[in-house]
Amino acid sequence: MSAPELDMLKEELLDAVARAPDLAALEDVRIAALGKKGRVADLMLLLSDMPPDERRAFGQAANTIKDAVSLAIDAKRAELARALTAEKLAHERADVTLPVREGPLADGRIHPVSQVTDELTEIFADMGFSIAEGPDIETDFNNFTALNIPPEHPARQDHDTFYFAQRPDGERPVLRTHTSPVQIRTMLAEKPPLRIIAPGRVYRCDSDQTHTPMFHQVEGLVIDEETHLGHLKWVLEEFAKAFFEVKQVKMRFRASYFPFTEPSMEVDIGYAKVGDEIRIGEGDEWLEILGCGMVHPNVLKNVGLDPERYQGFAFGLGIDRLAMLKYGMPDLRAFFAGDLRWLKHYGFPPLAIPTLAAGLSL
Ligand code: PHE
Repeated sequence: MSAPELDMLKEELLDAVARAPDLAALEDVRIAALGKKGRVADLMLLLSDMPPDERRAFGQAANTIKDAVSLAIDAKRAELARALTAEKLAHERADVTLPVREGPLADGRIHPVSQVTDELTEIFADMGFSIAEGPDIETDFNNFTALNIPPEHPARQDHDTFYFAQRPDGERPVLRTHTSPVQIRTMLAEKPPLRIIAPGRVYRCDSDQTHTPMFHQVEGLVIDEETHLGHLKWVLEEFAKAFFEVKQVKMRFRASYFPFTEPSMEVDIGYAKVGDEIRIGEGDEWLEILGCGMVHPNVLKNVGLDPERYQGFAFGLGIDRLAMLKYGMPDLRAFFAGDLRWLKHYGFPPLAIPTLAAGLSL
């Protein structure tokens, strides 16, 4: 093959590259030119039949063609890719300001208990708490004994416990009467410092306008080496302000008794009733929302923690109560009646996910 022929081949290949309309066509051109059975490979085959003095010059010429074509392909590929992106950007636009289309998704409602649980979780997670969980069916030890409520302790009577039948091994499981057994589970499983909340269902044999046999609590537990009552008050005040979305709350800490905390307190929140509306942070009516206190040394001992070194606080909040208060729902029993009309009225749109940044209740 003569030098002019080689030049013609080079021009032909470069021309094919230049005219490739898209990436797929360019790939075909590449295979036809530089592939194992391509035009440049054909040139290399000719080498073996040549006298040595011609071979060198011919080999160099063939390589020059190969390099030129492969450079041209790379450049063309980049150019086509850029064009493709520009084309996509021009046509694939989404108007993110469009409203969500009406449909089954927009019809469904989130139950107020789920919504309020998400709100609580968001607030405490922001304060550095992690989420712990425990089962609804508990051992007597976790629900009572480890919490400093031994058998025959009078506090057991307050709980209206649902007991299961006794098992052959003597164990008599209960439906947990509070979320406090999650304190025990957490302290047995992890080493301090601990900072958890544990939302969940609890059960007591009780039913009227403000009590249902199943309801919801969120437990809080902090264990560290220098934790005191001031921390507890701060956490609860910050929580109440964030939850009720007000700048100031009135809180009243009343001395109380729980076997698993010492000292123990019940916390009331101040509100005013204006017509049918409840206004948090004003007025001089009080509503109890939670029980709390410093974890009792006996509880720490029961889970193998040294009370001389560790201490902390715990609290238990009624979630359903908080929901009634915040969203003005008068009857607790309606929460669990499964009436779709109630859910349509009090439920939350599924995309109204509570975040501190966007506002808890949209
Ligand atoms: N478990 C208690 C109840 O259900 C609430 C509570 C939790 C009190 C933690 C103190 C500390 O009434």
